[in-house]
Amino acid sequence: MYKGKFITIEGSEGAGKSTNIRYIQDYLREKKIDFISTREPGGTPIAEKIRDLLLDKAHSSLCHDAELLLMFAARAQHLNELIIPALEAGQWVLSDRFTDASYAYQGGGRGLSWEKIAQLEQFVQGDLRPDATILLDIPVELGMQRVRNRGEADRFEQEQLSFFNRIRAAYLKLAEDNPQRFHIVDTRPEIDEVRQQIIAIMDRLTCND
Ligand code: TMP
Repeated sequence: MYKGKFITIEGSEGAGKSTNIRYIQDYLREKKIDFISTREPGGTPIAEKIRDLLLDKAHSSLCHDAELLLMFAARAQHLNELIIPALEAGQWVLSDRFTDASYAYQGGGRGLSWEKIAQLEQFVQGDLRPDATILLDIPVELGMQRVRNRGEADRFEQEQLSFFNRIRAAYLKLAEDNPQRFHIVDTRPEIDEVRQQIIAIMDRLTCND
């Protein structure tokens, strides 16, 4: 057990991760909690190079197994170089996506077996799991509308609606299976209401310290 908490933020495309991550960062700063903010795939120079490979639209022939393995290769580097040392130093770690995204995208979206993903999870992480996961949930059509307004799409964002429907269903299933760890935030309401939902979750996460 570490002193700092490991918090991950998940959601399908257009769920509002950037804005809500800012709210969480503001909250932690206000509470004077020492934290680092990072993302997956990526978070270290080597893992960011793997991210570039994964998101490059030119790599349309990347096979599903290679995609999964690259996600976990980036994760191994990220854990080793950044996440574990930060937790050991007593910092909180806030990660924009983590292994639940592999279950949702490579499992739900690509149709790879959850067993295969669970094996990699155990191999790369051992017993390390996030203390809390905030799932930003939005109906797929609405999320995709927001993504379209944002400009150029990466290799994942170019996928069809059915792909994102499977991802959302997988995330909701993960939340149902792990009710202690998951906190679902409905990001359809006005931004201020969403912020209140985030603050309520953060209050709960910080109060049992
Ligand atoms: P981002 O757009 O949230 O920065 O994430 C990059 C993309 O990578 C996003 O489309 C989700 C995808 N992804 C996976 O497919 N599997 C994973 O394990 C992770 C961490 C991300």
